[in-house]
Amino acid sequence: MTHPIVPLFGLGTFRLKEQAVIDSVSTALSLGYRAIDTAQIYGNEAEVGQAVAGSGVARSELFLTTKIWTDNLAQDRLIPSLKESLLKLRTDDVDLTLIHWPSPGQAVPVAEFMGALAEARRQGLTRHIGVSNFTVALMQEAIDAVGAGQIATNQIELHPYLQNRFVADFASGQGIQITSYMTLGYGKVLKDEVVQEIAAEHGVEPAQIALAWAMQLGYAVIPSSTQRKNLESNLAAQSLRLTSTDMERLAALDAGAAGRLVDPEGLAPRWD
Ligand SMILES: NC(=O)c1ccc[n+]([C@@H]2O[C@H](COP(=O)([O-])OP(=O)(O)OC[C@H]3O[C@@H](n4cnc5c(N)ncnc54)[C@H](OP(=O)(O)O)[C@@H]3O)[C@@H](O)[C@H]2O)c1
Repeated sequence: MTHPIVPLFGLGTFRLKEQAVIDSVSTALSLGYRAIDTAQIYGNEAEVGQAVAGSGVARSELFLTTKIWTDNLAQDRLIPSLKESLLKLRTDDVDLTLIHWPSPGQAVPVAEFMGALAEARRQGLTRHIGVSNFTVALMQEAIDAVGAGQIATNQIELHPYLQNRFVADFASGQGIQITSYMTLGYGKVLKDEVVQEIAAEHGVEPAQIALAWAMQLGYAVIPSSTQRKNLESNLAAQSLRLTSTDMERLAALDAGAAGRLVDPEGLAPRWD
């Protein structure tokens, strides 16, 4: 792979609001995190902006990602909504803007929102653009609209129980980076016996095994945590190297569709 656009390690902020998100982002930045993932629907962009402003970390050192909510996909809404996100985040531009979910019922055509997103980049509101929760068919439509080289990443649910290889292989064939969300399976993967055994062998935390596994496959990760000790150990997963046997044992945990945790009715596409 060429040099990845999305940093391989970053901080997630889903579910975290108000003081909880301010504390998580502030602690993470003080520990050395430099990439933060938020979204319009998380209702925390203003707090993320506040924590960044208070951190003393220069904007140029940070990689900020936000995501356009499905209500804002129409051509006349996407750019105004992104401008609002920038105001909340207290920045002139973000590093990456993603389409959070495909338009429910294809109400807004892929070519329309990808065109608007590309226009947002031309206007300097975002340095890179990408998608999230896109199937292979939807990625193909996005590629047809703007070209594969323009799409930095597809952010998808991906952890040892849902390895999403069909989507990941297609993306990598197109030079589109995969960002794994819920790499820890929202905590579920950490209770796995195999993950715990490998962690014990390396003398590390189970979460570090899941994160190192994903990064070793070339995927970006964005684990979230409200706890300093977890933020710290997740960050340290970057220096962990798993053996080929570890990687094979983890590969065998794939449960396919049964491993999927995020499948919101009315929002999720027909998954691959
Ligand atoms: N694009 C999308 O549609 C989409 C969907 C879902 C998520 N995301 C993004 O992906 C990010 C990550 O997903 P997520 O936050 O849902 O799940 P996750 O990162 O897989 O798991 C977070 C959970 O794991 C716990 N945890 C974190 N580090 C730990 C450690 N070292 N040991 C033990 N437990 C640990 C956290 O609890 P503590 O707070 O107690 O540490 C929290 O409950 C989100 O924050 C969001 O930015 C995107």
